[in-house]
Amino acid sequence: MVKYIIEGGKPLHGDVTISGAKNAAVAILPATLLVSGKCHIENVPDITDVRLLLEILSDMGAQIRRLSRNSVEIDCTRARNITAPIDLVRRIRASYYLLGAQLGRFGHARNAMPGGCNFGVRPIDQHIKGFEAMGAVVEQSGGYVTCDAPEGGLRGGHVYLDIVSVGATMNILLAATLAGGMTIIENCAKEPHIVDLANFLNAMGARISGAGTDVIKVRGVKSLHGGSYSIIPDQIEAGTYMAAVAAVGGDVTLHGVIPKHLDCITAKLREMGMVIREMDDSVRLEKTRRLKRANVKTMVYPGFPTDMQPQIAVCMCLANGTSIVTESIYDTRFRYTAELNRMGAHIQVEGKAAVIDGVRELHGCEVRACDLRAGAAMVIAALAADGVTIIEDAHLIERGYEDIIGKLTALGASIKRTENYDPRPLTAGVG
Ligand code: EPU
Repeated sequence: MVKYIIEGGKPLHGDVTISGAKNAAVAILPATLLVSGKCHIENVPDITDVRLLLEILSDMGAQIRRLSRNSVEIDCTRARNITAPIDLVRRIRASYYLLGAQLGRFGHARNAMPGGCNFGVRPIDQHIKGFEAMGAVVEQSGGYVTCDAPEGGLRGGHVYLDIVSVGATMNILLAATLAGGMTIIENCAKEPHIVDLANFLNAMGARISGAGTDVIKVRGVKSLHGGSYSIIPDQIEAGTYMAAVAAVGGDVTLHGVIPKHLDCITAKLREMGMVIREMDDSVRLEKTRRLKRANVKTMVYPGFPTDMQPQIAVCMCLANGTSIVTESIYDTRFRYTAELNRMGAHIQVEGKAAVIDGVRELHGCEVRACDLRAGAAMVIAALAADGVTIIEDAHLIERGYEDIIGKLTALGASIKRTENYDPRPLTAGVG
């Protein structure tokens, strides 16, 4: 088990470079299955979810060459259509993109139901509705999903999503790229990673328009060719460092970001009193005073992202006054609040809302990372707290944050990673 040991109370200063977007990368890697030829992909985040997907693609016979830490060449020309290993599929939510990509490429896909963070029931009925609109026959049994294209292959369809779903939008896009005729997806999600997947596919020869709006049109093409592509920066990783500076204090510049993608987070942190300056591809944050209370409700893009909900909640724990966080995307995403309360926060969860009475300080203790973003929130709380915090299950954080230890250490944090916790160097050894 991975643990982080953090000695808090040290303001963050300096520069941090943001990595490629996890939720774009985890769709673009399966999308290479649709391509005949070599895909040279840059700005690939070095995180566990990406490593698992590369392992699955490699098991399928993809030729994969790591060109550097963040660039990879993938050639799926000779990939085989296999059921991906269940132990890998169950560890990542994004394994559901294999269904769309395999169905699109081979006309058949069979994989275990995906894993991922536990926020209550996370069905994939909208993905299936999209595949069926293209003529596929989909069956779910024994924890597996099997999809079969009709004779002659998938054909364009018209899908109106009942729920705005990131995963369904991207999965239908994947399946539709090589289908015969035009597919129209209405009420689709508009997150930057959806635009990124469409841009990647278009760079390889697809004909997709409307990504970033709520209607996407895909004119099916016969084949895709190889090419080069660079993944967009991670909105949530950037937001996490922004929340860290807001909670802990200091003066930090984030590099390699798209400030427009951060607007929803920047606006909330400004409302709470942070001084934020936006440049072309960087953002500078400075904390000059105690944070003010605020309310936030998670929404689909361009609203405040649910994946930033636990991190902003930590800022609210330390703000002056009472804040309310309302979760509108998932049924349950407040398990982490019990861990923050152990550190001295005052949070009360009532249904879909968390009422947070700000406190002056948090105190280090032993806590758990309940999931990826909750784990990031624990890191922020630990950096802001007095004393030492030990975060258990920290491997979950590494699903989505590249080199978080190195990046925070460079900003002046005391953070140590261990896989076999040694109780002796509680304070002296940290860092
Ligand atoms: N939903 C359905 N049916 C579906 C699909 C979704 O009812 O067929 C519901 C979900 O249960 C949820 C809501 O619709 O209540 C939105 O889910 P969505 O499909 O948008 O989420 P997702 O594709 O499963 C992706 C990200 C999540 C992020 C959400 C929302 C990936 C791999 N995951 O999940 O990221 O929270 O979109 O933005 O892209 C994370 O990175 O920490 C993370 C959890």
